[in-house]
Amino acid sequence: MNILVTGGAGFIGSHTVVALSEAGFRPVILDDFSNSEPAVLEGLNAILGFSPRFYAENCRDLDILKRVLKEESIDGVIHFAAFKSVGESMREPLKYYENNLGTLMALLEAMGDCSVPNLIFSSSATVYGEPSKLPVSETALLPAPISVYGSTKQVCETILSDQVAAGKPLKAFSLRYFNPIGAHPSAQIGELPRGVPNNLVPFITQTAAGIRQELTVFGNDYPTSDGTCIRDYIHVMDLAEAHVESLKALFGQRQPSYYEVMNVGTGQGHSVLEIINTFGEVSGKPLDYTIGERRQGDIATIYADVSKINGMLGWNAKRGMREGLEDAWRWQQSLG
Ligand code: WQD
Repeated sequence: MNILVTGGAGFIGSHTVVALSEAGFRPVILDDFSNSEPAVLEGLNAILGFSPRFYAENCRDLDILKRVLKEESIDGVIHFAAFKSVGESMREPLKYYENNLGTLMALLEAMGDCSVPNLIFSSSATVYGEPSKLPVSETALLPAPISVYGSTKQVCETILSDQVAAGKPLKAFSLRYFNPIGAHPSAQIGELPRGVPNNLVPFITQTAAGIRQELTVFGNDYPTSDGTCIRDYIHVMDLAEAHVESLKALFGQRQPSYYEVMNVGTGQGHSVLEIINTFGEVSGKPLDYTIGERRQGDIATIYADVSKINGMLGWNAKRGMREGLEDAWRWQQSLG
């Protein structure tokens, strides 16, 4: 089976390319490097022993999409290509709506024209905002989005749901990721944030590597056990394998029009201080930090109810937060 991976040179995309190949699929990468690096392809070659087919193209061009779907005899698509900075999305709403919605709509049109019905969409737990019940389930009513980025994910999910409700020949999952961390254990691929990392774990590893001078904990006055925010940190390889299992389920789905949303997390929550302290243990480099002000838009606690994906696919995260931090640190050290 041939699988088009848009954004396949990105953090989650590249790890999913590895998992796809190891599961016997043939991944084809389409990525314009707007938020990824060509060196990722060398890392993939080092892990896989070959270089997956690659198209350095933009995912909004309908003709390019149709050409790739046909020339590569694509059977299914995993759509990662999107802008994902919460902060930037609040400064550049139009850029985010145009890209994140535009790429999905172009892809859906191209898939319809080329009779490719299987799609995995990269969504995010950010659609939940501050959940009223924990662990948060897919049945939770979605609040008004807390960011433009979150709004684009909510709208994309609605586009998929409406397409299927209209009876279009589309079988799709929206996977709501919690907090991806870590790297492939080979340290050949990993997270490559551009500029100052927004996310906690790459900021921690860059601080430990001496790239960042000071680690700030954004608030310790939240209603949690130690006052710092709680998140569901899932190893990126677990997340990658969840995509493979989701794809297998779509190929086995006999309904021509099918749509489901699934959380992809560990079901466990950990605080910022737990992450920092655990990193100190696994790296042997205890980190100093300062307590700063809360970051705008942060919620206190969120972690996943994973009963749906477990029941539907038999999938569960196998790797813990500790292993994620070990692999993230090994990757950071490999960067020199
Ligand atoms: C985690 C916790 C911070 C950095 C974001 C996006 C979400 C998804 C995952 C795309 C928070 C705290 C962080 C630092 C800190 N991305 N923190 N000091 O905000 O849960 O989710 O990334 O889909 O959409 O919103 O992840 O890693 O940014 O923050 O104290 O230097 O770490 O306040 O409580 P977040 P994060």
